[in-house]
Amino acid sequence: MPSVPPGRRVIITAALPYANNDLHLGHIASTYLPPDILYRYLQHGKAEAIQICASDDFGTPILIAAEKAGKKPEDYVAYWRERFEQDLSALGIDYDLFYRTSSEENVELVQHFFKVLYERGYIYPSEVHQFYCEIDKKFLPDRYVRGTCPYCGAQDQYSDGCESCGRTLQPGQILNPRCAICGTPPITKASKHYFFKLSSFSTQLKEWLESNKNLQSDARNYVLNWIKEGLQDWDITRDISWGVEIPLEEAHGKVLYGWFDNHLCYISTALKAAGKSQGKDGADYWNDATVYHFIGKDIVYHHYLFLPSMRLGEGRFKLPDYIPTRGHLLLQDKKISKSRRWGITIREYLPVLPPDYLRFYLTRITPYAQTDSNFDLEEFQAKVNNELVANIGNFCYRSLVFVKREYGLTIPEPGEAGEAEKTLLAALKKAEEETTRQIESGSYDRALKAILDFGTSCNQYFQAKAPWEKRPDMATTIYYASNCVASLAVLLHPFIPFGAEELWEQLSTGKDLSDLPWEESKEQLLKPGHKIAEPKPLFRRVEDADLAALQRIIEGKK
Ligand code: 2FM
Ligand code: ZN
Repeated sequence: MPSVPPGRRVIITAALPYANNDLHLGHIASTYLPPDILYRYLQHGKAEAIQICASDDFGTPILIAAEKAGKKPEDYVAYWRERFEQDLSALGIDYDLFYRTSSEENVELVQHFFKVLYERGYIYPSEVHQFYCEIDKKFLPDRYVRGTCPYCGAQDQYSDGCESCGRTLQPGQILNPRCAICGTPPITKASKHYFFKLSSFSTQLKEWLESNKNLQSDARNYVLNWIKEGLQDWDITRDISWGVEIPLEEAHGKVLYGWFDNHLCYISTALKAAGKSQGKDGADYWNDATVYHFIGKDIVYHHYLFLPSMRLGEGRFKLPDYIPTRGHLLLQDKKISKSRRWGITIREYLPVLPPDYLRFYLTRITPYAQTDSNFDLEEFQAKVNNELVANIGNFCYRSLVFVKREYGLTIPEPGEAGEAEKTLLAALKKAEEETTRQIESGSYDRALKAILDFGTSCNQYFQAKAPWEKRPDMATTIYYASNCVASLAVLLHPFIPFGAEELWEQLSTGKDLSDLPWEESKEQLLKPGHKIAEPKPLFRRVEDADLAALQRIIEGKK
């Protein structure tokens, strides 16, 4: 790893996937790919960065699913966790640690938070009337109940939140409730629950939202509105067996709500990955870092209100510096939904086309904003074929083939740089600067576009210098062209790591690509006399047959 500026430590987290479903293209676009781009970029000598994630193991939906599958919840979540790691890794998304909310370390941190918040009066007990199904003989929290949203009237919503208006619902708020297992209306029964005093953090939350200029303004504004409307205290108890036990004698048999424990797993996992304790050294480590929590827009409420207030109440771990929040991915203009059988999982995509193509296209179409993007099969084909295969791939291959054919795989000695070379080098400098600026400000789509524009400049240079005409300055042309190939390998590394690494291999520098300081991408990395390896085409085109295969995956679900 190249040396990093002193004091630049970065902790990157991605929202933890619920351990009951495979990841699909939408998850990757909003939540898992953007942090990986940042992480890979930072590894080029920009920061000491760690990237962590975990499976979100607890909660009612997972318990229900495990029961249906006839498995113990522990085994059930372990199965999904393994699949997450396989799928993400196959897309080039690797973590310093991919852990779990049910880990010993997380349970310890969560119970510690509960105790401190309870002792300080931020958590208080209160009797609630809880839905209870007399047929199934159990309390029915969250997803065990469906009904009508009290805010917007949307029907058939889970009792913990409305998919239609995005509001989080408290137990008991849902209208016209029905047991999700047997469909009968539940009765209510008294149960002692614990509440978190979200309301007492309103002022501090407002101050943080207004002073943290790194937060996206659209999210900030509607969260500020929620605060203005008045925050409700938050029921953090569930009458089920699968969760972090409430560390109080009198709460025996009750567990904490999943949203009390899951985000603390960002901290417990990062500290474990860094080899730190949950004591002072861990808190110092956390507080010395720039902290990013990447999420999708459906969990804004939890990350901008629950998470910061719990940290404020406990007081030792700083709030996030950034919460990059992206919109949903539509597929062929329709919302991706498992229940509506519309989507493509990573497992389904991977046998059809290379991971880089997906990374490339998703990055191209996903802005740093909460607006939704659309995965369109034909646009996917066109963008990959025109921009990646034709623009980047062909330039690299053609340049290296000249090194092979004309100079026996040896980078030639250039003559003096002329106007065309000066223009090319100016385009390279601009590309490096613009890519850096856009990555640092979160717009990975624009960063990638800057590299593609540079690719266009490279092609124009090559066309104009026409080395196939064997002009006297052919060596100069091939020297600069092949050095641009090396620069492209570095610049593209965060975005399409497989292609970038393969290209780097062909250049045979003997160094690890990630060891290259980012700024050096604007230098001439290949010296005259350096011998490269055998050039090979990097990418193949997306054929109509590939699109048909993806189409069949979608259709097969109907
Ligand atoms: O909405 C979800 O998919 C949740 N599992 C995200 C959890 S992120 C958390 F840990 F903060
Ligand atoms: Zn609603």
